[in-house]
Amino acid sequence: FQPKLLAGRRVLITAGPTFEPIDPVRGITNHSSGKMGFALARAAQEAGAQVTLVAGPVHMPTPRGVARLDVQTARQMHAAVLPLAPQHDVFIATAAVADWRPDTTADQKIKKQGDSRVPTLALTENPDILAAVAALPQRPYCVGFAAESEQLLQHASEKRLRKNIPLIVGNLGPATFGRDDNALLLVDEQGHHDIPHADKLTLARALVREIAGRIGQPHTP
Ligand code: C5P
Repeated sequence: FQPKLLAGRRVLITAGPTFEPIDPVRGITNHSSGKMGFALARAAQEAGAQVTLVAGPVHMPTPRGVARLDVQTARQMHAAVLPLAPQHDVFIATAAVADWRPDTTADQKIKKQGDSRVPTLALTENPDILAAVAALPQRPYCVGFAAESEQLLQHASEKRLRKNIPLIVGNLGPATFGRDDNALLLVDEQGHHDIPHADKLTLARALVREIAGRIGQPHTP
């Protein structure tokens, strides 16, 4: 029996990569599978929460009982999340949002020039969705993720403070994108501790317990 730790709570989750089009057939993206975000959506739903999942382009079935919105770009994800955020108690940002997008998107496929000239791609920074939600006056409890290749604790701690969020979760496993397992490092104002190596659904359930413990007693709607 799983206690309903998030009964009456509303949880908003971003998951997967974003896709930033260059032209109608090309774009910038990354290898995020969405597995961690989808596992968290399932775990939060099992814990009694009303869950909204905003997903980039992924090949994942929607967990039972979860409301899902599909987006492509970082700006679409930002536009979907911001108005929803104040109506939620918890926001978990697992999406691997592209940091930059092409300045302009060509209407037609960019053709190869016969003389081997190479087009240059001018980039613009994408909005930081997590930082924007954390800056809302009516903000949900915000949880960020940090994928770092070195000095995870230091970088995760700095990121937590920079984005002004109470909890950040570091990926301890090597190259977690697409894998079914991982280990997590939780960093909050009290300090840090690990959730040991396990499959992503087990980790998601453990993280849901951690979040439920931090936002207080379950309440009835
Ligand atoms: O700054 P960095 O991308 O390393 O931060 C990672 C965290 O911030 C993740 O929780 C990610 O979902 C979130 N993020 C975001 N919007 C961005 C970039 C990152 O929500 N544009």
